[in-house]
Amino acid sequence: MTNLNDKSFTTRAVHAGERLNLEGVNPVVSPIHPSVGYTFADSKDLDAVLGNQKAGFVYSTRYTNPTVTAFETAIANLEGTEDAYAFSSGMAAIHMALLAAGVRAGTSIVAAADVYGATYTLLQDVFTALGARVHFVDVLDLEMVCRTVAQEKPVALLVEVISNPLMKVADLSRLAEIAHSTGALFLVDNTFCSPYLCNPAQFGADMVIHSATKFISGHGDVMAGIVATTSALKEKLLTLNKLIGSSMGPFEAWLALRGLKTLSLRMRQQCDNALALAQWLQAHPKIKRVNYAFLPDHPQHALMQSLSGGKGAGSVLSFEIAGAGKEQVFAFMDALNLIQPATSLGDIYSLALYPAISSHRTLTPEERAALGIGDGLVRISAGIEDAADIQADIERGLAVV
Ligand SMILES: Cc1ncc(COP(=O)(O)O)c(C=O)c1O
Repeated sequence: MTNLNDKSFTTRAVHAGERLNLEGVNPVVSPIHPSVGYTFADSKDLDAVLGNQKAGFVYSTRYTNPTVTAFETAIANLEGTEDAYAFSSGMAAIHMALLAAGVRAGTSIVAAADVYGATYTLLQDVFTALGARVHFVDVLDLEMVCRTVAQEKPVALLVEVISNPLMKVADLSRLAEIAHSTGALFLVDNTFCSPYLCNPAQFGADMVIHSATKFISGHGDVMAGIVATTSALKEKLLTLNKLIGSSMGPFEAWLALRGLKTLSLRMRQQCDNALALAQWLQAHPKIKRVNYAFLPDHPQHALMQSLSGGKGAGSVLSFEIAGAGKEQVFAFMDALNLIQPATSLGDIYSLALYPAISSHRTLTPEERAALGIGDGLVRISAGIEDAADIQADIERGLAVV
């Protein structure tokens, strides 16, 4: 592999994970290895690899695969962690990270109240039913987090860097200190920032989780998740995944690795587009409120500046259409022509989503209201198209409301 130690993020995104010389050959681009099984010169060799005395590939499902290893190597490099382990989806990565952190019956987890809807329901329904105690906190209220962590002594504190869809920003350094004060692992879902904007391990995260379905792959054609972490915690993830089998496939790993090469370029354009839209919407007479952490009046603007090294706040912004309910938001969404009304984010295509019927559908209306997710709230993920075209499309939508 090219020596990357002294290179910038943009350069590392292009080269990391490539040319690992895994089979004694060095193609410029990592090949796709579809083989499930691997043969060995003799049984002693196989025994040594299966017994972890020797590195090697045995069985792609649930162990490791060379193409997946290339992707994991790239993410570990970009996140600045010792290693990484890839999964079949972002939700699989979150589930496995919680298990690897030691969440079991009788243990406790503290999580941000506004984590992604499916994460919330995973904690609230699945983990609670299995006997874990789950406590949701407002991560902006550090005193409350501190009190809850001191009282509950959780095995894990789970937060997102930028919350969805209200774009609150978590103070990672302070939260890491709080988690570690009672021995909890600090788990950070970094999906909304991607490693381009923020490396949570630098601020004390023990496991950095991504839905690689989003910015990392970037083209809306891959389902994947990954946890960037220490070698010791990766070992735990691997041991668990041998039983659970939420593995990433080699074709997805190849596409995700390919997507990574343009991560910096895409993120720069998407951050610029999102900021331009946020500023324009803020002055729009039909818009009551805009949530975007790079707007100077956003309460955590300075924090976002510092977490991202001034690079931006990502592609996702949300806004409340004044006086709108479900019917008006449906009319807005149906009038869009360029922006795709699709349930994802971070793609090169601009996407619009109505949280009340999608990302936060699994929450009750009361739970949504408690989080401040009103019926007039729309989320946009700015793509890499021309900002003026995206703006004109939103104007078209707003014209019918
Ligand atoms: C912040 C966040 N985490 C995790 C997930 C789950 O990822 P996936 O859909 O790849 O399972 C999502 C999906 O939208 C997300 O937005």
